[in-house]
Amino acid sequence: MQVRVLISAEEIARRVQELGREISADYQGRSILVIGILKGAVVFMSDLIRHISVPLEVDFMAISSYGEATETSGVVQLLKDLDRPIEGRDILVVEDIVDSGLTLSYLSQLLKSRKPATLKTAVLLDKPERRRTEFTPDYVGFAIPDEFVIGYGLDYNHRHRELPYVGVLEK
Ligand code: IMP
Repeated sequence: MQVRVLISAEEIARRVQELGREISADYQGRSILVIGILKGAVVFMSDLIRHISVPLEVDFMAISSYGEATETSGVVQLLKDLDRPIEGRDILVVEDIVDSGLTLSYLSQLLKSRKPATLKTAVLLDKPERRRTEFTPDYVGFAIPDEFVIGYGLDYNHRHRELPYVGVLEK
């Protein structure tokens, strides 16, 4: 198996810094509860929060979606819930990628039912062609074509999350 680099580590670093600045400007004078979706968002989230200059706390949720290995069925199972309530808080959900949009639209609805003050979503990658719901993330690192990507937190069969770039697996 070979990996074709789609987005280099340098490009990612530049864009994540820009996103951090944008988020810091948008939340001036407030504090954020950043919610990372395990496990794919871990790498992006840990880089992103170091470029956010307003006070923040972090929490995590873990979910699993049933279905084939490379595609979600939209049926989402909550494996780990947040440690603390979010009522009245400014929430930023951080996710690795939005594909069909089913996972993030399900999670957004679940979190909105807990009455946060605001809720926004930040994703590193967006595959807009694949959308099966109306979902639009508030912050997007890169829009990419319809290819299965790995690296920078994203896995194929639990592997390749540690790659510093985003790439496509080629036979
Ligand atoms: P959605 O519900 O279809 O938007 O899918 C979101 C989830 O599917 C992501 O959080 C990823 O875990 C996974 N996923 C979607 N596309 C890719 C990909 O290209 N590489 C790795 N995981 C992906």
